Amino acid sequence: MTKYKLIGPITQLVSMNGLPLKGALKDEQLPIILNAGILIEEEHIHSIGNYIELKEVANSLKAEITELQSEYVCLPGFIDAHTHICFSGSRANDYAMRNSGKSYLEIAKAGGGIWDTVTNTRTASQEELCHGVIKRANHLLKNGITTIEVKSGYGLSTQEELKMLRAIKEANLHLESDLVSTCLAAHMLPKDYDGSQQEYLDEIASTLFPKLKLENLTNRIDAFVEQSAFSKEDIAPYFKKATEMGFDITVHADQFTAGGSEIAVKVNAVSADHLEASTDNEITMLAESDVISVALPGASIGLGCDFTPARKILDAGGALAIASDWNPGSAPMGDLLTQACILGTFQKLSNAEVLTGITSRAAAALKLEDRGRLAPRMLADFCLFSTNNFNEILYHQGKLTPSQVWKRGDVVYKQ
Ligand code: NIG
Ligand code: FE
Repeated sequence: MTKYKLIGPITQLVSMNGLPLKGALKDEQLPIILNAGILIEEEHIHSIGNYIELKEVANSLKAEITELQSEYVCLPGFIDAHTHICFSGSRANDYAMRNSGKSYLEIAKAGGGIWDTVTNTRTASQEELCHGVIKRANHLLKNGITTIEVKSGYGLSTQEELKMLRAIKEANLHLESDLVSTCLAAHMLPKDYDGSQQEYLDEIASTLFPKLKLENLTNRIDAFVEQSAFSKEDIAPYFKKATEMGFDITVHADQFTAGGSEIAVKVNAVSADHLEASTDNEITMLAESDVISVALPGASIGLGCDFTPARKILDAGGALAIASDWNPGSAPMGDLLTQACILGTFQKLSNAEVLTGITSRAAAALKLEDRGRLAPRMLADFCLFSTNNFNEILYHQGKLTPSQVWKRGDVVYKQ
């Protein structure tokens, strides 16, 4: 028998329905239902609307009713569209060195940085990595994040990248939240690789890509396009092969120097992420394309660098998602809501722009059409915050966390 549930009354339900994917947004555009209810059918939303009206429908369907006794604001479950939460080890020493004046790239050149995490991650077993992902994903769930993208990229050989992606796949089976995995074997040329950049990329494409398909490990390929990693010229044939095999592309672009977003647009990537160094040229190029721009304020906070020019991207007509980039090096905080709030204050974003950046527009950055909004047939993924005004959520800069998190129609966390 089909299982129905009704929850409400909810003081304000911000559905995110009907908002454009691209461009600036005003808070007045946010679709808000007052005294709302959510009628759930199994894992999905059956309908949203006025609680009293939905209660009649719910009774006729013999729905289980959760009647809320105080005021709540409801938002779609948050989506963190860019993380590296599969790793082992800590880079606390890198952080201290950076704050004492060494740059991220200087530390990388001296053998620290990404390579340090590669060394630790290679030493860890698949099971240990899986446990780490579960622990971090459960931490994110308490902050309302019900979908998390997770990259490999600390293995940097066919076998070690497979170990990471298998750990992510395994973790997904044990979690309430959904993981979306991405292969980032092109994070840097491994220091122990006996060959050129092109040879490494060719080897990954010919040996790892088919296995990703065979084991259903991911349908997304990412690369770090940067002076210290891969140039846009080097990465073009790699992306071409990936596209020919049917993978979606995403790019670590314009973090320290511009270049990555150009290739992202050329290969029609799903998203270009970072963009701290994007100039007006790149911003226009991205805005005129279908590529979603993903700002990663956690990396700016972790490295003490400029923020992604989010205001300019939106004003140029671009689509802006916001993600945490949680990783042990550049973005160790792992708190999407706090970081999105901070980006909002520094870049003068409306609350609508910040909230769509971690819901509806973040879903687009992962090509997920079944979440990020609250509407019939969408997944019943949502958060309830103990307040009567949605503006309170960003105002508290991450300190107001959800009282309840619902995933696929069930309460999975309660404070
Ligand atoms: O998105 N920029 C490259 N990759 C990661 C950092 C990874 C690391 O420092 O371990 C990023 O910031
Ligand atoms: Fe990243």
